[in-house]
Amino acid sequence: MKMIRIIIVTVIFLLAGCAENRTTQDDKEQFVDSLLAEMTLKEKIGQLTLYTSGWTITGPALDSNYRKYITEGRCGNIFNAHTVAYNTELQRLAIEKSRLGIPLLFGYDVIHGHRTIFPIPLAEACSWEPALAKKSAVLAAKEAAASGLNWTFNPVADLSRDPRWGRIAEGSGEDPLLGSLFTAARVKGYQGDNLSDSNTIAACLKHFAVYGAPEAGRDYNTVDLSMRTIREVYFPPYQAAIDAGVSTVMASFNEINGQPATSSTYIEDILRKEWGFDGVLVTDYGAIAELIPHGVATDSAHAGMLALKAGADMDMQSGVYMQSLEGLVKEGKIDESTVNRAVRRVLRLKYDLGLFEDPYRYLDAQTETEVVHSEELMDHALEAGRRSMVLLKNEPYKGKKILPVMNAPARIAVIGPMADNRIDMMGSWHASGDAQMVVTLEEGLKNRFGNADIRTAMGCGFYGNDISGFKEAVRLAEWSDLVILAIGENYVQSGEAASRSDIGLPGAQQQLTETIVKTGKPVVAVLFAGRPLTINWIDEHIPAILYAWQPGTRGGDAVADLLSGEYNPSGKLSVTFPRNVGQIPIYYSTKNSGRPFNPDDKYTSKYLDVPNEPLYPFGYGIGYSEIRYSDLQIDRKVISFGDTLHISVTIENVGEYPTEEVVQLYTRDLVGSVTRPVKELKDFRKVHLEAGEEKTVTFALTADDLRFYDIDMQFVTEPGDFHVMAGPHSAELLTTAFRLER
Ligand code: BGC
Repeated sequence: MKMIRIIIVTVIFLLAGCAENRTTQDDKEQFVDSLLAEMTLKEKIGQLTLYTSGWTITGPALDSNYRKYITEGRCGNIFNAHTVAYNTELQRLAIEKSRLGIPLLFGYDVIHGHRTIFPIPLAEACSWEPALAKKSAVLAAKEAAASGLNWTFNPVADLSRDPRWGRIAEGSGEDPLLGSLFTAARVKGYQGDNLSDSNTIAACLKHFAVYGAPEAGRDYNTVDLSMRTIREVYFPPYQAAIDAGVSTVMASFNEINGQPATSSTYIEDILRKEWGFDGVLVTDYGAIAELIPHGVATDSAHAGMLALKAGADMDMQSGVYMQSLEGLVKEGKIDESTVNRAVRRVLRLKYDLGLFEDPYRYLDAQTETEVVHSEELMDHALEAGRRSMVLLKNEPYKGKKILPVMNAPARIAVIGPMADNRIDMMGSWHASGDAQMVVTLEEGLKNRFGNADIRTAMGCGFYGNDISGFKEAVRLAEWSDLVILAIGENYVQSGEAASRSDIGLPGAQQQLTETIVKTGKPVVAVLFAGRPLTINWIDEHIPAILYAWQPGTRGGDAVADLLSGEYNPSGKLSVTFPRNVGQIPIYYSTKNSGRPFNPDDKYTSKYLDVPNEPLYPFGYGIGYSEIRYSDLQIDRKVISFGDTLHISVTIENVGEYPTEEVVQLYTRDLVGSVTRPVKELKDFRKVHLEAGEEKTVTFALTADDLRFYDIDMQFVTEPGDFHVMAGPHSAELLTTAFRLER
């Protein structure tokens, strides 16, 4: 049997080669059909089974059962296994020992880099450069593929407006447009033009659907939102990934409007029928078994039946398909054609990856040595780090701005738990990111300010109230000419299962900050975190604040480049920073309400104890040069459907440093059949400006850009009056008006 299959494959690929390497869809279908025809039901179910390889301190460890399952053709896919040596060993088992020799998929959470870690995705979105994210994905794919992987569980398209939710770190922030562009860029980066290239891997869009809006910000919790909001706000990034050709999708853990995503009608009705996705849908970790606690399945067989029927092709880790599907088919509860449908999708993916042609395509030890941590990757880690950080504040201290630190003072004190910290620089989901390669803040500063005397003190850790390190920290601050406070979250304080109800500085860091500020020394706060933290006190008391997020392997160098002015900060927030958790959910594209805030009227929408405005708005971020916006122009006041409106705005760099500015364009639909947000991002441009340079930036809008779900849930544009706004961020905009007529 195996011989026959090998001959078929060889013939197909020879034929393909003759046709200038173009294998047609027909060839693929023919191949998949003929293979399917040879498979037993058990072997089919094996292709729908995905198990993790454990990872011990010394290396990978696959439960001995799984070796047996692979050999028996009962487990066709493995995740968390990597390195060429290990994956070759496993692939050999599948190819040489199983009856049909079907190659394994090797999946892994390559979220923001594999061994070389780039900034967390939320940070990378602050670059407002989808091309940067694409390059990160290209390089992450190259490094992952060189390490024996062929499938990443990324990108995360979960839009989120709730920084309590720890996984906000993995997405691209709060805005549908920004989120869509970044998600699509990542898909294209991972998958390239040809999935079978040995340096591209299959991407996995996750987590479908609306995982980023759990009630109360608690991970895995219920999601219950209007379909209008879901379609308008949360769906676009998912759909953008489908349009970009993503190969696989992962269902989310949450329930959505009463249905657990894993067995929901959203899979068939929206993902498959409406968006035309026909790739593999994999469940999340153990999620089929979770249909029981969700309360829609009585037992695991029932759960398996619901999931498969709903369109979940591959069972990650719950083992339910392996244990129950055969029985369900035999009892007539599931038609074998439903199993076949899922198996076909998996086989097609393996075919597209080129695994049938060469199952060892991603398994070359020489390439692994050359690519992992190569200069190209390490350089990009620095570049991505520099472009992802956001300068939030830079006010004079005793009449003079501290930043940029052009001439380093003689003595610099770096204080806080991030002062000389490797692992937490990488952030959550750094998977097999190599902490040894990380440049700490101390090292980065030493690399940049060679002549300065740079010393560090932790002061305190990330947990508890232990302040025994304060004394040493204060002594160091008093000794210094400049204090750099290196504070924030560690890598497990955001990410999966890391929701927080208080998003202030964890542990004794707030107290440490106040103690250090009391010394009267000039202080710069550098914050490392996987989410927006509530930092009002810092904003009030510290003149310079850099939000470095979790910047990855070259984090220390990137921070030093920004502090020194070697690179002029250009990042702008991809997410709103609240003043306190009571403001959450908070986002710029809010509705007006019937009683918008009016300071002279008690009965308007507001809090008694905090302003409505966030601490820092979406799109905000400054550099070392001041940018002046003027002269917002539109080329006509009235447009018709089919016309293009041109909008221009002038920006001038009135500072002394060359800079890059993200010019943002928003609109407001003043009257609709349903209420519309007060602002919606429609476009943006990142523009380079030399010192003193002036440029005019032009945007184009058509009626299609103004579509929304009307009262009948039709995606349309309604004629009427609009505002169009341009400026440096969502809360500082020049405004003009136009009318759209039929
Ligand atoms: C996460 C997924 C991840 C999977 C496999 C789950 O807990 O929700 O995002 O891909 O584990 O590691």
